Amino acid sequence: MTQAPLHAPLLHDRLLIIDFGSQVTQLIARRLRELHVYCEIHPYNKIDEAFLAAFAPKAVIFSGGPASVYWEGAPMPPKGVFDLGVPILGICYGQQVMMHVLGGHVEGGHGTAEFGKAYVTAGAKLPLLEGWFAAGDEQVWMSHGDHVSKIAPGFEVYGTSPNAPFAITADVSRHFYAVQFHPEVHHTPKGARLYENFVKLAGFKGDWTMGAYREEAIRKIREQVGDAKVICGLSGGVDSSVAAVLIHEAIGSQLTCVFVDHGLLRLGEAEQVLKMFRDTYNIPLIHADESAMFLGALEGVSDPEVKRKTIGRLFIDVFQKHAHEVGGAKFLAQGTLYPDVIESVSFSGGPSVTIKSHHNVGGLPEKMGLKLVEPLRELFKDEVRALGRELGLPEAFIRRHPFPGPGLAIRCPGEITTEKLDILRKADAVYIDQIRKHGLYDEIWQAFAAILPMKTVGVMGDGRTYDFALALRAVTSVDGMTADYYPFSHDFLGETATRIINEVKGINRVFYDCTSKPPGTIELE
Ligand code: XMP
Repeated sequence: MTQAPLHAPLLHDRLLIIDFGSQVTQLIARRLRELHVYCEIHPYNKIDEAFLAAFAPKAVIFSGGPASVYWEGAPMPPKGVFDLGVPILGICYGQQVMMHVLGGHVEGGHGTAEFGKAYVTAGAKLPLLEGWFAAGDEQVWMSHGDHVSKIAPGFEVYGTSPNAPFAITADVSRHFYAVQFHPEVHHTPKGARLYENFVKLAGFKGDWTMGAYREEAIRKIREQVGDAKVICGLSGGVDSSVAAVLIHEAIGSQLTCVFVDHGLLRLGEAEQVLKMFRDTYNIPLIHADESAMFLGALEGVSDPEVKRKTIGRLFIDVFQKHAHEVGGAKFLAQGTLYPDVIESVSFSGGPSVTIKSHHNVGGLPEKMGLKLVEPLRELFKDEVRALGRELGLPEAFIRRHPFPGPGLAIRCPGEITTEKLDILRKADAVYIDQIRKHGLYDEIWQAFAAILPMKTVGVMGDGRTYDFALALRAVTSVDGMTADYYPFSHDFLGETATRIINEVKGINRVFYDCTSKPPGTIELE
């Protein structure tokens, strides 16, 4: 069952996060990366002693999780982890399992649960809590059914909350720390400080910087690729662009990018991408303008799934055709990110492991006999942005909102026509311009317009109009998995609707979409 560490750069200190299935395990990694600490998340049931020896962590964190320690087959820490002689921090279930294994006791049942905000009262001083309790009790976020009822030998209590008498515990001599709350979430305001104290105690140097990452990634790409040719599908999004620029820096003209223009891009988008890659970076780039073919195939199609499948299939055909022009390419580069490769612990039907399959050009590498180059596999989205800055990509480009592969097709419910696409492009550009003018672009995770499959009656000047209605969408989100609508002011919405109707021929009515996700999705289709 041993799983090779993903990266484990020997030049850096490494922290191992053992995942017991918490919803917020990824947040632990983010907090640590913010502290410039290299860490990896691995499921508890994929770690054995050989793995621990190969990974050689300088510290370990046990995540929370939905199980109870007294369930049959409950997730347990890997053998040997307490003998590594490194600091360990247990969070929520991580605390309970630590106490359970080391000789304490955990209880469930009535009156032990605590969900949401709670306040922890200080006990004795502890270096892990440096900066805490200066102004009294500290707010923390709890989410537990069970709680520790007897701490393990060697541990002392350093903080209590109404329903968790052992909210903060530690065996200082062994550097084992265990807390009942979740320091990684936003609602534990001093949580980041706790992680900072923990990595300081463990002796991390904070040497995980984008400058260091860039150097290492370049060396690794050169090693992997040798003198072979690499092709990279460029979407104009941040991930594939950063991957392309990084690989180009490593292997120069051995890299060719293929930019498939399906005719469903935003106003001026193709020109911007081409200009940046050709003029600024001088990266060999095939501009596959296949808009006529895509739009032809989509004619009369209104079912969202058929649209997506048609675009996906054609995309692969076109990419494959142009990749052959490069001749003899052995590698395909992709901007896969760390959240896409983290294996998550699933509790439906035992400790099975689910891996998200996400490849943008799914199945293509095998079909074409290509190996993958994925230089962003260790990074979170915000780190990709930091790397993009390190590589000198323009700030405006780095901060761009995500744009889906099927493009405007899924923002044009019903049949897609060139007339509707033209109107949509113009209206979307006005909407984004409004958002930028009001300084809101960076507060919003994603914003776009969608042209609705209906016409409505209006009056402009003294004449009647019968034009399309437009929906505006803007959401806040962390990862696109859940989202809330952005609370624009009424003034902003009114001004934007007026501008769009005045400036874009073909629209006479504008709606704002106030649906969160769930129950809605971000895109309309
Ligand atoms: P939904 O609509 O599922 O979207 O809430 C979540 C995020 O994913 C983007 N999205 C896609 N991205 N290919 C992509 O590359 C797709 O087929 C696709 N569909 C949705 C969407 O823009 C949002 O950011």
